[in-house]
This record gives sequence, structure tokens and C-alpha cells, in this order.
Amino acid sequence: MMQIKNRSLVSITDYSKEEILRILDIAEGFEENQRQKILSDYVVATLFFEPSTRTRLSFESAVQYLGGGIIGFASADVSSVKKGESLKDTILTVSNYSDLIVMRNPMDGSARYASEVSPVPIINAGDGANQHPTQCLLDLFSIRKTQGTLDNLHIAMVGDLKYGRTVHSLVQALSLFNTTFHFVSPESLKMPSSVKTWVKKAGLEYHQYTEFKEVIPIADILYMTRIQGERFPDPLEYEKVKNAYILDNAMLKNSKDSLKVLHPLPRVNEINEDVDNNPKAYYFQQAQNGVYVRQALIAAILGLK
Ligand code: CP
Repeated sequence: MMQIKNRSLVSITDYSKEEILRILDIAEGFEENQRQKILSDYVVATLFFEPSTRTRLSFESAVQYLGGGIIGFASADVSSVKKGESLKDTILTVSNYSDLIVMRNPMDGSARYASEVSPVPIINAGDGANQHPTQCLLDLFSIRKTQGTLDNLHIAMVGDLKYGRTVHSLVQALSLFNTTFHFVSPESLKMPSSVKTWVKKAGLEYHQYTEFKEVIPIADILYMTRIQGERFPDPLEYEKVKNAYILDNAMLKNSKDSLKVLHPLPRVNEINEDVDNNPKAYYFQQAQNGVYVRQALIAAILGLK
């Protein structure tokens, strides 16, 4: 296992299985005791060039619970990017003010580029439709916590598997754990071949569907996703698929007792609100787990855990 200290996290594939499990174990410690003031001499920057509620605020919450300082912006509109400043110049400048940069950017590959020019570590908080590795870590934490294991599970992913970056990271990570995958999407939003290649290389099975009722009884985890309207080049194509999958409470009747419904959130209409009170609904606890996992990641990258 390499040192996590001082390393950027751009793609979940930057971490080995052992390193992923180490972050989850540290996160369990923060779940038990969240208020550990180990970051009092540090400043973390959050640069969000794209909207966010959970990722930005849970990172900021994580830093505050650790006793660190936080700077940053929630929109490119209030930064000098608006005046034409390059990403490189922004990163080089902010690295003078902070020990670690958390960045979300709409451009695929922007986080990798930032990590190559930055003197301080970069955590990718989502780059376009590419990767969302910290969401992946909190998804893994949530799966392990609810199922008692990450091994040998049937994971169903439903919705926008083309543009949804969270499922790309999650498939790559779960390919380390002998997962059987069930991919449910419209034909136009299928899981990209580059991601399915990870499953094949790991010698695992994936099944593809356009209807999702048949996967509900066999799933251990039903991972619902939003159709990512903002990433469609043609708004008419979005109109055709925007209501493709809507989970309601009655549909969970024949599911496993141990099933949990996950969603990275935000949701639009793909999970009916009548599911929220079902004990199988886990998406708000999932978002809460994001704080523990981000505390763990920050602490590990800064060499404090
Ligand atoms: N899951 C997630 O990335 O949510 P936000 O877009 O609100 O950060």
C-alpha cells in the first residue's frame, strides 16, 4: 500500500483496494467520534465551478468538524474565471492560500490537469461526466455499513448510466469486490464501454436491461440516478427519457428484506416521495455518511490519520 499522504484523488482507480478500505475504516472512526480537532493548523479550499449542495457542504462540514479553516467559492461567477483567468492560474494562486484543494469542474479531465499543475493535493469533487471518487467512497461506506460486506453483492444501477459520473466511479471500485452488476438504462444512456471494460477485466458479470422491475427482487442495492439533463447536447433527447424510471413504494414489495435504495442525490422524480419512509430508503443517511468519509480522506491526505 502506498502512502495516501500528499496524493491527489482524481479517479477512484488512483487508490488500491487496500487504500479504499483504509479510508472506509478511518471514516468509521469519525462516525463514532466526529469532533476531532486535528486540522487546526490547516486550510482547505473548495473551488466549485459547477453547482453542488451535498459535496461542497459536506466537505466544508468535514473541515469544520476537524477544526480547520475553509476558503473557496461556490460558483465560477464569483471568481476571476469570470474575467478570463485560466484553471492553471486559479489553481496556482489558490495553492498559495491552502494545504489542499477540493475542486468540481464541468470539464472531463479537468481534475487530472489540476493535479498535474498543483503544488498541493487535489481532490476531485466531480469532473464533468467522468469521475466522482469521493461520492464513490461514501457509496462504498454506505453499502458496507448496510450489507455488512462489499463482497459478492448484486448491485443494480438505474437511470442515466452514460452521463452519471457517480456510477462510473462506483463500477470501477466495486469491480474489486466480486460484484454482479445489473445496468438498467434507456438505450441512449447505456453504461459506457470504457467502464464495462473494467468489469470484464475483473472477470465479472454485468447484465443490461431497459426495464427495471425484473432487477428489484434480485438486487442487494438499488442505486437510482437522476437523468442528467444539463449534460445532454440536445434538449429534445432529454425530454424523451426524463421520466424513464420512477421508483415507487409498491414496487419494493417483492424486494429482499436487506435491500437498500441508494441515490447520490439530488433527485428529480426518479424516486417517489412515498419511498422515503420505507426502511429500505437509505439516500439521506448515505449523504450523511459523506461527511465521515470526507473527514477521513482529508485527514489521510494531510497525513493526520
Ligand atoms: N451527490 C452529489 O454530488 O450531490 P451534489 O451535486 O449536491 O454535490
